[in-house]
Amino acid sequence: MNRTKFIGIAGGSIIATLVTSYLLSDRSNLLRKDLKLINSNNATFKPDENEILHLASLAPSGHNTQPWFVQYLEPYNWIIGNDKSKWLPAVDPTQRETILSIGAFIQNLEYAASSMGYICHWTLLAKTNQDEQVVKVKLNKIESKNPFDISKIKDRRTVRSNFLNDELKTEDLQYLTNSEPEFIHYLPTISKEGQFINEQTMVANRLQTYRDPAQQELADWIRFSTKDADKYRDGLTTASMEIEGFSGWVVRNFYDKENVMKKDFREVGLNKVKQQVSESAGWILITSRDNSVATLLETGRRMQRLFLKVREKNIAIHPMTQILEEPATNEMLNKSIGIGENIQFILRAGYLKNYPPSVSLRRPVEWFLRS
Ligand SMILES: Cc1cc2nc3c(=O)[nH]c(=O)nc-3n(C[C@H](O)[C@H](O)[C@H](O)COP(=O)(O)O)c2cc1C
Repeated sequence: MNRTKFIGIAGGSIIATLVTSYLLSDRSNLLRKDLKLINSNNATFKPDENEILHLASLAPSGHNTQPWFVQYLEPYNWIIGNDKSKWLPAVDPTQRETILSIGAFIQNLEYAASSMGYICHWTLLAKTNQDEQVVKVKLNKIESKNPFDISKIKDRRTVRSNFLNDELKTEDLQYLTNSEPEFIHYLPTISKEGQFINEQTMVANRLQTYRDPAQQELADWIRFSTKDADKYRDGLTTASMEIEGFSGWVVRNFYDKENVMKKDFREVGLNKVKQQVSESAGWILITSRDNSVATLLETGRRMQRLFLKVREKNIAIHPMTQILEEPATNEMLNKSIGIGENIQFILRAGYLKNYPPSVSLRRPVEWFLRS
């Protein structure tokens, strides 16, 4: 064999090996549309119960932990529970955000039930954010007059990048806040208060990124590989973190929890936050009168009602809760922006040119249903 022929064969086999390795690697993001709806094995469990609870579970939650469970009492009679194993002690030590997320779940449940002709009767059970049993719900069949459009529940998603800087139009803002202006505050980016939230979001993210327990907790909820994403169906995936293309491929195939704790990963994250903060129309703050379980649930519901309205106006919402989670920034927030009530949500808002589909994963109903 001459030299040229040898180089040709060797080069060919290297390319073949590279192509095969690539083909065998973790090549694409696992998306919500890739998951099949699993029907429960429970014979008494009706298909529309499964559908209602699946739609409820499309609610947002911090790190997508999905901190709820459903105790099945009898058909159309359930207890909605708080799943302790899904808490985020490092960033949410009082389970405030857990209860807000369960509030969003409850709002979705009520809308989904209404779309199938049921009215919900709720009984509050929890006295603290830590109680396992949160609310009891009974669904009764009614003549549905104004069923909710469930495509809004399916299409809702958190968007984190490519916000436009255009101000929110007055009519859009009115549509978003019309029925509950008392607890929804809009701070345009160009305002002094909006600028303050921009700066403090950076400060809080820096504090949190270098607080090891918080960073470790984040690492524990990142599903790096498709295998893990499919196994757990929760947490943050490359798709939901909007890490696309080659970067996504690198993260899926070569990253693990240890990388998250390294300085360069933390700094890349902070640069991403800097970019995000530079893109927005402004901030929407959701407040409440007190911090009781009932009020937090209602505030989670209020946030979800708003979240379900934004897509039709081409508006994206990105909860950025670090200011509230870091004591040093939380302490001076109210005074600095002149809001007296309890601030429960800080949402970055802005128009999008292209609205991406919903991609974050959810556990099948079967996995969070308890008998
Ligand atoms: C109480 C709460 C706090 C959240 N905090 C943040 C946050 O600080 N940063 C962020 O990027 N997303 C945050 N999110 C959004 C979740 O990460 C998101 O809802 C989850 O990953 C599921 O994705 P989806 O909203 O697209 O369905 C928060 C959501 C809730 C309900």
